[in-house]
Amino acid sequence: MIEEETEESITAEVLAKAGNTADPRMRQINEAAIRHLHAFVREVRPTDAEWERAIGFLTETGQMCSENRQEYILLSDIMGVSTLVDFINHHHGDSATESTVFGPFYVPPPEFENGEDIRGKLDGPPLYVEGRVTSTDGKPVPGATIDIWHSDHVGFYDVQQLDKLGELSGRGRIHADDEGRYRFWTARPKAYPIPNDGPAGKVLDVQGRHPFRPEHVHFMIQAEGLNKLVTQVYAQGDEYLDSDAVFGVKSSLIREYEPHDGGTAPDGKTMDGKWYSLAFDFALSPEAG
Ligand code: BEZ
Ligand code: FE
Repeated sequence: MIEEETEESITAEVLAKAGNTADPRMRQINEAAIRHLHAFVREVRPTDAEWERAIGFLTETGQMCSENRQEYILLSDIMGVSTLVDFINHHHGDSATESTVFGPFYVPPPEFENGEDIRGKLDGPPLYVEGRVTSTDGKPVPGATIDIWHSDHVGFYDVQQLDKLGELSGRGRIHADDEGRYRFWTARPKAYPIPNDGPAGKVLDVQGRHPFRPEHVHFMIQAEGLNKLVTQVYAQGDEYLDSDAVFGVKSSLIREYEPHDGGTAPDGKTMDGKWYSLAFDFALSPEAG
């Protein structure tokens, strides 16, 4: 006998169909999606007009995506989902440097020698960055590949203004020396708003949130036998540390961008006027054998 269809029975019916999914992982994902989606709809009880609006929102999000813009990732970022996925996949114990969101502004960087200036065509006060790459057991990681990228002193990345700059700037790849040490010069970045002229921006508006990220420098560090580390170092004292639009800040990643006026830099360079220095050591966990 066919049972009467009800608001409750529809979930069981759809779940039964998904139960035929052959691949066990795909079955788990499909079933969880159905359970949570149905629970969401039961809780919210959308009107027809609201449901149409939801479909319109998702359509607009897809239409905003292009080779240079990934609106779904932005949406995942501002809802804290990117950070949650990062926690799930990249928590490598308390002695490893914490990871954080990758962001949309990475492109493969030009190579530099340890100690060189990666600012390219960016303006802004000089920033000297140095530190060490070790494994979590404290051993140096000679030759570790360190990719660096950051915004300019107004808050824009090079890839957002390539027509004006003419070349990649404020990004570079260097390699740690025999003791795992790295150093480079660049131009100090600044807090900036994430792209907020699309659906993700509308969500921020509706929730009464600003689109800013606190000042930071991105790092991606890779070495054989160790887990890749994608992270950022945030400027102590930044006004957005407690309200990062993408929930990327972790207190272990905050450091002072130490101010200086003239004098001699750690690499012996004579300085004129204002400049800053930042020190950060990275510890990478071993890959699971
Ligand atoms: C970034 O830090 O570059 C970033 C991260 C998430 C969304 C937008 C920008
Ligand atoms: Fe960034």
